Amino acid sequence: MKRISRREVLKTTSHFFVGAIAGAGLNSVLQGCADTSSDQSAIDDIMKKTEMADIKNIKLTVLYDNVLYKKEMATYWGFSCAVQGLDKNILFDTGMYENTLMSNMLKLGIDPSKIDELVISHDHPDHVGGAMMFLENSSDINVSLVKSFGSSFKKEVKERGLNLREIDQPCLITKNSFSTGEMKNFTKNEHALVIRTNKGSIIITGCAHPGVVEIVEQTKKITNEDVLLVMGGFHIMNDLGTKTKKIVHRLKDLGVNFIAPSHCTGGEAIEIFSKAYGPKFINSGVGRIITANDFI
Ligand SMILES: [Fe+2]
Ligand SMILES: [Fe+2]
Repeated sequence: MKRISRREVLKTTSHFFVGAIAGAGLNSVLQGCADTSSDQSAIDDIMKKTEMADIKNIKLTVLYDNVLYKKEMATYWGFSCAVQGLDKNILFDTGMYENTLMSNMLKLGIDPSKIDELVISHDHPDHVGGAMMFLENSSDINVSLVKSFGSSFKKEVKERGLNLREIDQPCLITKNSFSTGEMKNFTKNEHALVIRTNKGSIIITGCAHPGVVEIVEQTKKITNEDVLLVMGGFHIMNDLGTKTKKIVHRLKDLGVNFIAPSHCTGGEAIEIFSKAYGPKFINSGVGRIITANDFI
């Protein structure tokens, strides 16, 4: 199988994977999301088929972030988080560079071959750039992304015989987790990963381009359950404080219990979240491992 060079991959920002792969299999199963005909039937399907995971088993490991938490980690602009302790292991986003991702995975004891599900939040290089490693080395991984994602990347996934899940409506990912469905934004459409737990939902965002408040609202529209944690990039890095304070207010109104902003949230906004949430602010960044002990 021909390997695509890094230079080729980074020729464009949204279409990384250029050129066909000689001899690649074409036996992928192209899935939409469930057999649903409307948002409401998609939501009903999720609530019928998902089960709450026990928070005691869940381990969230931030593998890639421009915000540094643990000093021996490699850091670069982007985001990636591993979710363990569910029925399947999930990798949410892959950061910009596979070498940085791989190095951090190794240091944090996450085995790439044990990842069952790859969920990419949106088609920006700092979230999908490291995905090549999984496409090249996995034979049975499921890849979930929004329907509007670049066609070159989707083609790569299919040509490698991997299972591609193109998401528009809310969609089941594993027995304990689901996608919010594709949420529209003029920068990039995006979806977020939601884990249902016995202590409330855990929501992981990539850049939250459609808005972190909107993502929480969408999650609650699906589950009508408490929100234990929102973590990831909130994309308010250029805000001088006014917008962030409104977001904090709305998230508290929505009952978001714990918060772990990083990546594109921005230093000033993170500071505002820290003050507003006090002991329920979780300091995050690359190398951070979040477990049940953080929710006491
Ligand atoms: Fe980002
Ligand atoms: Fe982005």
